[in-house]
Amino acid sequence: MKYHVKDIGLRGKGRKRIEWAERDMPVLRRIRESFSERRPLKGVRVGACLHVTTETANLMLTLKEGGAEVYLCASNPLSTQDDVAASLAKDYGMPVFAVKGEDNRTYYNHINEVLDRKPMITMDDGADLVSTIHMKRKKDAAGVIGSTEETTTGVIRLKSLAKSGLLKFPVIAVNDAATKHLFDNRYGTGQSTIDGIVRATNRLLSGSTFVVSGYGWCGKGVSMRAKGMGANVIVAEVDPLRALEAVMDGFRVMPIAEAAKVGDIFCTVTGDLHVIRKEHFKTMKDGAIVCNSGHFNVELDIKGLKTLTKSRRVIREFVEEYRLKNGRCVYLLADGRLVNLASAEGHPASVMDMSFANQALSAAYLAERGSKLENRVYAVPEAIDKEIAKMKLETLGVKIDVLTAEQKKYLEAWEMGT
Ligand code: ADE
Repeated sequence: MKYHVKDIGLRGKGRKRIEWAERDMPVLRRIRESFSERRPLKGVRVGACLHVTTETANLMLTLKEGGAEVYLCASNPLSTQDDVAASLAKDYGMPVFAVKGEDNRTYYNHINEVLDRKPMITMDDGADLVSTIHMKRKKDAAGVIGSTEETTTGVIRLKSLAKSGLLKFPVIAVNDAATKHLFDNRYGTGQSTIDGIVRATNRLLSGSTFVVSGYGWCGKGVSMRAKGMGANVIVAEVDPLRALEAVMDGFRVMPIAEAAKVGDIFCTVTGDLHVIRKEHFKTMKDGAIVCNSGHFNVELDIKGLKTLTKSRRVIREFVEEYRLKNGRCVYLLADGRLVNLASAEGHPASVMDMSFANQALSAAYLAERGSKLENRVYAVPEAIDKEIAKMKLETLGVKIDVLTAEQKKYLEAWEMGT
């Protein structure tokens, strides 16, 4: 079996960490048990392009238990956990193509390794498998029943592809399930981003001025957790509604050009291009720390930053010092890539439990129903979303009320008022 990982000798550590994460993924465990009996993915080749983490390993093993043949590559050159990749390849016999720090050419070679195996279902985090099929490997589309997409950025790309009328198979937007984005994007990104910044810098957040660009679910999570650590949080937004939410949530809101002058730590989570640019880097305080927790490494204009720079050096792991011509230093974390996955371990297992429960059940849904679907972007069926919320509550030991017959009737009746 072919695979490409950094060091197969890391497998022992990886296996134990995969087991550690499994403990905190009870919903996925339940699905694995049911998959083991039902085998809904029997004979289905699944190609996955996801962050290669302990949580993803548990998803891959669940799909295998459901009968799938699974191939895995990384969805970001810096997010791979090499010990996990080694364990999946050696302990679980899975063709894995992922090496932390791989260059762009290797990254795309790995995507092609997965596509060479002619997946019938593709599973993306950022839409790179689907976009490669549509741009470079059009013939492969005929064999694809459908795809699932994990993240906001990927869903935006895929909706744009569908809108242009070129999407060649159905896609399920896992990101848009309530049990995904309300928890993973908010609490997962919130915690793991702070974790990444702290691990990379060991800076005290308390009392610092922390600037968050973007107040979507990820931005809300990062702002909330930075505030919880005692930082003074400033939010920069382009959307009036979201900006208003940030104001009402108690944050200062201002354009990034103003925030740039006062921030100590900057984090972008917008999903858009060049959110912090040359003109902003120029005005930053000496020692400003800049990072990104959005999907692609495009939110910070690093090329622009380089043109302002006299010299650069890596001052500690994941921290690069840019000494500017104006004499000040700006510190860039993780090369502008996802800081939560590059310098920490991504979202904790407990929250990925719900995201990946959506992935597993959506894959089974595609295997069963995909041929009847149109070539467009679908929501995760509501029944699946609700079932995952129910299972998560059960596994947390939380009970909730049920409506009385009288309450149900009241909610259904337009005639009744006070
Ligand atoms: N995205 C964010 N955190 C992740 C994790 N732990 N595993 C896989 N994908 C992720």
